[in-house]
Amino acid sequence: MIILGLESSCDETACAIVKDGREVLCNVVSSQIKIHEKFGGVVPEVAAREHLNSINIVVKEAYEKANISPNEIDAFSSTVGPGLVGCLLVGLNAAKTLSLVYDKPYLGANHLNAHVSANFINSDLKPPFICLLVSGGHTQIISVEDYDKQTILAQTIDDAVGEVYDKVARLCSIPYPGGILLDKMAHDGSKDAFNFPQAKVKEDEFSFSGLKTAVLREVKKFKPDELPKADIAASFQYCIADTLIKKTKYFADKLGYKTIVLAGGVAANSELRKRLKELEEKGYKTQAPELKYCTDNAAMVASCAYFNPIKTDNSLMLEVFSRG
Ligand code: KG4
Ligand code: ZN
Repeated sequence: MIILGLESSCDETACAIVKDGREVLCNVVSSQIKIHEKFGGVVPEVAAREHLNSINIVVKEAYEKANISPNEIDAFSSTVGPGLVGCLLVGLNAAKTLSLVYDKPYLGANHLNAHVSANFINSDLKPPFICLLVSGGHTQIISVEDYDKQTILAQTIDDAVGEVYDKVARLCSIPYPGGILLDKMAHDGSKDAFNFPQAKVKEDEFSFSGLKTAVLREVKKFKPDELPKADIAASFQYCIADTLIKKTKYFADKLGYKTIVLAGGVAANSELRKRLKELEEKGYKTQAPELKYCTDNAAMVASCAYFNPIKTDNSLMLEVFSRG
């Protein structure tokens, strides 16, 4: 089954064509980073307008790259939510229109499930497994019992990990998008330079607002041009990865899972990937999506539409949603 997926939930306009949920025939991503850079973050109205400008272009490019005609597509899909409503509407209406024009089903995808599905791309991974989902808006440990059966075991009670990365980057005057730059900077610093706190929370919770405040307190002790950015980045990054990996392993052991996977934009983080890999020495099977499938993309949407579409009697009636 060949599915065309569209992603437009935030600041990436993307179209991909994926066969049987695992084989990517093309993956086109048009990033708006340059546009939002000057604002220091995503401006929803600007993003929605940019999606409108780019959506037809990425679809056309996808057909060309996959060397496929629209008639060969078996279903059209898009991210339905969570995300920015005005942005989601662009992808949803484009995919529904394509489905009506070519008389093929429309399949809706949940953005979070799509991030999990990124792990099925170019891999033979099968449930059950434990997934640590870390993105700009979410931080969750999920028990993936089956392709369409997922239970949230723990989640953040305040900031998401990606959000904290971006905020700490801003504190250190590192430009948007801060996460990836902070990750790079951490390689030149010492994880022991600062002893940042790990929140004491309930078993099913994460909390990162205290860590953010602790970083702010340290930053304020320095003159801007004397700020030891690399040391702050390394100590912060170590603290985050340690918190996340420990709790994920805890739940894997509690539920008896032997496979642990990462998902979401922060799954691209080098320290997190390193710490995950180290679990293999303890007998776990681990996996993280290829870097290009960690941050928002449409291949994961098409994969999700294949394995775990939003269940509904009439998918053409699906409406976008901002939170989930
Ligand atoms: O999944 P994603 O592309 O969008 C959301 O669904 O939110 O995740 C974006 C987030 C941003 O906060 C970005 O700073 C973070 O992922 N991110 C990273 C890295 N690459 C992207 N955070 C830490 N290290 C990275 N290498
Ligand atoms: Zn995302």
